[in-house]
Amino acid sequence: MSKSRSTPHTQTGAPARGPADMSVKSEQDQSEFVPVAPFEMVIFGGTGDLARRKLIPSLYHRFLDRQFDSKSRIIAVSRSDYSRDDYIKKITEAFQSFHPNEPFDQKTWADFCKLVDYVAIDVMNDDSDWTALGDKLDCSACIRIFYLAMPPRMYAPIADGLNAAGLATPQSRVVLEKPIGKDYESAEIINNGVGRVFDENRIYRIDHYLGKETVQNLMVLRFANILFEPLWTRESIDHIQITAAESIGVAGREAYYDKSGALRDMVQNHLLQLLCLTCMEPPDSLDGDAIRTEKIKVLKALRPITPDNVASFTVRGQYAPGQVDGETVEGYIDELIGDDNSDIKDGEQSLTETFVAIKTEVENWRWAGVPIYLRTGKRMSGRFSEIVVQFKPVPHSVFGAGTKLNPNRLVIRLQPDESVNLWVEIKEPGAGGLRVKSWPLDLTYDEAFTTRYPDAYERLLMDVVRGRLALFMRRDEVEAAWTWVDQIQDAWSQTQQNVQPYPAGADGPGDAQHLLELDKRTWWSRPDV
Ligand code: BG6
Repeated sequence: MSKSRSTPHTQTGAPARGPADMSVKSEQDQSEFVPVAPFEMVIFGGTGDLARRKLIPSLYHRFLDRQFDSKSRIIAVSRSDYSRDDYIKKITEAFQSFHPNEPFDQKTWADFCKLVDYVAIDVMNDDSDWTALGDKLDCSACIRIFYLAMPPRMYAPIADGLNAAGLATPQSRVVLEKPIGKDYESAEIINNGVGRVFDENRIYRIDHYLGKETVQNLMVLRFANILFEPLWTRESIDHIQITAAESIGVAGREAYYDKSGALRDMVQNHLLQLLCLTCMEPPDSLDGDAIRTEKIKVLKALRPITPDNVASFTVRGQYAPGQVDGETVEGYIDELIGDDNSDIKDGEQSLTETFVAIKTEVENWRWAGVPIYLRTGKRMSGRFSEIVVQFKPVPHSVFGAGTKLNPNRLVIRLQPDESVNLWVEIKEPGAGGLRVKSWPLDLTYDEAFTTRYPDAYERLLMDVVRGRLALFMRRDEVEAAWTWVDQIQDAWSQTQQNVQPYPAGADGPGDAQHLLELDKRTWWSRPDV
């Protein structure tokens, strides 16, 4: 279990959790939670998985740390005809079942629940009455936020509904969950629809990877240290690998996933965002537009993937039955067949990829010629997301041909076990001649820091309240990402590129290894030291 899930909150403003919890903190570890202005947050999709698993618990944690107080309100909206008490019961059960190891303070939870209300509206029904929602939004001094945790086809109708009901005031903000559409065209329709009601600077398109602690640290590492910038170019970097591996399958989301696949579900957003933060030029400030303007330059400079090169630059895979964490698990097709909401029936196949590996390049002066390898998949050998920046070998070895020198690597582990490791060559201590060994300069968060750091959603929700757009995707970014991804999707259809099976528990099909082997490289895996 990572530190972010298990350690207590900081002392600032938080209810006491007992001396034992607090004794482990040093003074530097006491992060400050700067209170935010009172807000009214309306969560459409309030009974859904995201709201119960992430949004409500995240808000509770921010309340627990007294980042907001009882002047704020949270209003859940969904079609179900629940009373407020029913809803509170639901979120209480959900918190306890999804976060069994989280600190749960009965009194604070009860206080938090006093801020929560519930309204039933069928947002897709033109005859629905939105008055009850309007009646609950009674704080004229509060920041008003509409969080749309709903399928993207509903975004524009909800924006219209809010507008018609007079609830989308000029100061209100709207938060859109990913995916924004399923391709460029659908994204444009959604963006236009929501944009008719909300100005661009009031639209917060969430990519929760941008709220992760280590992703934020990537910017600090790059731009607060003089060390890396001179080396951060094609002259010194051999290649970059970005991996987001998951050991879970698609259980419970079959119907959505089979129409999406790994390319749309993970690459279009999370992996491309990581690529942008790794490769962008230094922005002049942390201002939202400064960062987003640099990111979009990276997206626009990605080498296009076409029917002519798609087979050389991409690998598609789909998991078959196998073993994950010592357990035998079903293959993707069997999961689809077992799900009532899926269109795939017994004896049928699906061509959706649950794994993708891509070799790309950012075609500009800094990066020309530096391969960037991306990979993501379900039912891989484990859950790990990391960025590996591999430097070039030294130009000449003074140690003689018998001594193997490994290139330096900067390995940023995003999850779990967040860490930054700079692998260097050192002399193995002791007698017996001069032996060179790779060793990490190891910054493992769990060992270095005792502070609980917030879940990505906690940080992003508070950024919405504060009006900070830097960690949210601008419209042109989303559309540029779709443009690149659509080309790959089209090239796959035109060339009918195979989806290769891999056993659950493997890191994709053999061709994913081959993609790098052809370039005399391998996917990074941490050596035993
Ligand atoms: C979501 C995808 O955006 O990210 C899921 O839709 C995926 O398929 C999830 O499982 C991964 O997020 P995390 O934070 O667990 O890496």
